[in-house]
Amino acid sequence: MQESTLPLESTLVELEAHAKERIANAATPDDLEAVRVEALGRKGTLAQASKQMGKLAPEERARIGKLLNAAKETLETALETRKAEFDRQALAARLDAEWIDLTLPAPGPRPGSLHPITQVQMEIEDLFTSMGFAVLGGPEVETEYHNFDALNIPADHPARDMQDTFWLKDGNLLRTHTSPVQVRGMERLGPPLRMIAPGRVFRNEEVDASHEHTFYQLEGMMIDREVSVAHLIYFMKTLLSHIFGREVTVRLRPGYFPFVEPGFELDIQCLICGGAGCPVCKYGGWVELLPCGLVNPNVLRMSGIDPEEWNGFAFGLGLTRLAMMRYAIDDIRHLQGGDLRFLKQF
Ligand code: PHE
Repeated sequence: MQESTLPLESTLVELEAHAKERIANAATPDDLEAVRVEALGRKGTLAQASKQMGKLAPEERARIGKLLNAAKETLETALETRKAEFDRQALAARLDAEWIDLTLPAPGPRPGSLHPITQVQMEIEDLFTSMGFAVLGGPEVETEYHNFDALNIPADHPARDMQDTFWLKDGNLLRTHTSPVQVRGMERLGPPLRMIAPGRVFRNEEVDASHEHTFYQLEGMMIDREVSVAHLIYFMKTLLSHIFGREVTVRLRPGYFPFVEPGFELDIQCLICGGAGCPVCKYGGWVELLPCGLVNPNVLRMSGIDPEEWNGFAFGLGLTRLAMMRYAIDDIRHLQGGDLRFLKQF
């Protein structure tokens, strides 16, 4: 083949060698594609070389034609091989990125957290049990007797209007406060009695930032011989400084509830503004937190306790409102909204 050092033949050999080198050196699939277009494309170097074939003698044409085809095949194979290499590398990189260590311990279930109201409730339960109080529960669907009559609120009593009630068709109701649990406690356990009753209560209220139809209370009662307002104040101050982790400033105002006499409203100085006035205390500096008083003798008598021998105090704590104060929650609707973004903060 010495005589075949025709310009076209040597050009072909050079073209092929050059293209092969570029294929070997292609750093990316894009580089590779550029080489393919340049060598094998419709206007590529091989196509241009083949245009010159017309000038050749027929037998030369056949020979060079074969060489051309051979060069084309060689380059196609080289391109494919290189491309396969890129594909393998890409796959290896992907597998590397997706690699999972099956020997690692599983992440496990994500633990939930206790609802802020539950947290406050459990703390208060701990405190009162440490002072000898029992924690009692009762039904949410109550009789009219336990929710009202036994608490000295007969049917025609205006105090019934203080609590908008969800009545059931059978004459029962959704309890409007946890006081009926105290009635059941007195009936069942008798004096002396120290008990608290945390629970869910219901009122037929228009819902807004500070009112819910469903909220939580924690009521408590102590019945013994010679219980006084001083006992009441002592337990309430112990309770509040325990909850808020510091001395709180309180004041007692007279308050009317048919089941206590005398009755009080215990207010605390607003913990959010320190008494200066803010939306939470409605700019009054004080937050009404705790109605309380000495148990009305009628109430004791109705539950079978002799008021000549026994007396006691009772208080009703708005657990919902307390949790709002404690965690500076500005809208009561968050508490039952079920939004995990809110709940996860506690
Ligand atoms: N049960 C009353 C209420 O829910 C609160 C209260 C309890 C008041 C005990 C005085 C004593 O409104």
